[in-house]
Amino acid sequence: MDRIRINGGRPLVGTIPISGAKNATLPLMIASLLTDETVTLDNVPRLADVGLLQRILNNHGVDVTVSGKRPGEDENSGQTLRISAKHIVDTTAPYHLVSKMRASFWVIGPLVARMGEARVSMPGGCAIGTRPIDFHLDALRALGAAIDIDQGYVIARAPKGLKGAHIKFPKVSVGATHTALMAAALAQGDTLIENAAREPEIGDLAALLVKMGAAVEGAGSGTIRVKGAARLGAARHAVLPDRIEIGTYAMAVAMAGGDVMLEGARADLLDAPLAVLSRAGVQVAVTNEGIRIRRDGAGVAPVEVTTAPFPGFPTDLQAQLMALMTRAKGTSKITETIFENRFMHVQELARLGARIHLDGETATVEGVDRLKGAPVMATDLRASVSLVIAGLAAEGETMVHRVYHLDRGFERLEQKLVRCGAAIERIAG
Ligand code: EPZ
Repeated sequence: MDRIRINGGRPLVGTIPISGAKNATLPLMIASLLTDETVTLDNVPRLADVGLLQRILNNHGVDVTVSGKRPGEDENSGQTLRISAKHIVDTTAPYHLVSKMRASFWVIGPLVARMGEARVSMPGGCAIGTRPIDFHLDALRALGAAIDIDQGYVIARAPKGLKGAHIKFPKVSVGATHTALMAAALAQGDTLIENAAREPEIGDLAALLVKMGAAVEGAGSGTIRVKGAARLGAARHAVLPDRIEIGTYAMAVAMAGGDVMLEGARADLLDAPLAVLSRAGVQVAVTNEGIRIRRDGAGVAPVEVTTAPFPGFPTDLQAQLMALMTRAKGTSKITETIFENRFMHVQELARLGARIHLDGETATVEGVDRLKGAPVMATDLRASVSLVIAGLAAEGETMVHRVYHLDRGFERLEQKLVRCGAAIERIAG
């Protein structure tokens, strides 16, 4: 298994191009199941999760072709996928594929909406919490699907098609909102989704569905109205920039010090994290080109942050913020409210000398003057990258194991950091 070696202590200076968002790409790819015509996606990041979803879609009979580089494009340009679900040959998503990536469960919505049936393995637990699927199933039931659970599979049936409904989620869920939106787009009549997730990736999915022929209003707010279409058609859509990648590099610069332009970054995607960085004393400047992050030798001030659904501070940046606060000039408090077990990075950060005390859902982080490099390992994507951030500021060598987690969600991480002067390299094997 590959490892990443970092020699800490160098500031980051330069430009980092921001890729398309993983968490928008996945539902956009899945939405291609709603039509027998071709959906073209631009600015798709080269990530392991995208490759895995391609395989999952292939299993349903979907053709995915990846365009080669066009003249003038460099390796930072996203790829273009042409996805054709003309013939869906299999409505089963098997355990050995769904268990590798939770978001693949979301195929259930478009499959039952278009084919009248879907048999999808339950995604099961995961390193960051129990992550149930009850809201997805309740939404599909409201739309008229009959749901059974059999041998670890969810079987959804609606032989006469789905019907528009009133769906009110008891709690905000990104995935369940995606499921409800995709299913409602092919349902007969109007659907009202209340307490919908407001994440920008929901807006990206809604924009694609509109291009495909559904009427969707209110995406980005808590109330979404969908007028289903009898058929959806071809569309072309560019994936929005990855706000978690933007926030991650912003925190890396804040940690290592330096001056970096995050090219193509959009500030409106992460107002809350940028405000936290400003409070910590990091200089954030929004320009036409992207977001410029600067920190001189002054160090960062401690902050108190609680994760929340968008537009709050994202759980997907909690680990990275914690890494940054390990060297703050004072004591920070970070509270995780979305997932009950998303503190796997705490014990690994401690190996580098961080002082973190956990009490329920709150971590108290006492800033230390210095971190020292060590071998570390993480069990999920965002936790892994928090260790890279800490390693950039730690004295000596930090070796991050289980790099495949990083490859799921960060495109060319080492190259992007090396361009800015970091001493970071991948060791194969
Ligand atoms: C999405 O996961 C993201 N994944 C996650 O990013 C992200 O952490 C999460 O949203 C929160 O922002 C993708 O977009 C692919 P949820 P999702 O449903 O949709 C509870 C990453 O690192 N819940 O919004 O699975 C759930 O347990 C990943 O890129 C139910 O109780 O998250 C959690 O407490 C990790 N029942 C809360 O809702 C349900 O049926 C929010 O989860 C569904 C969710």
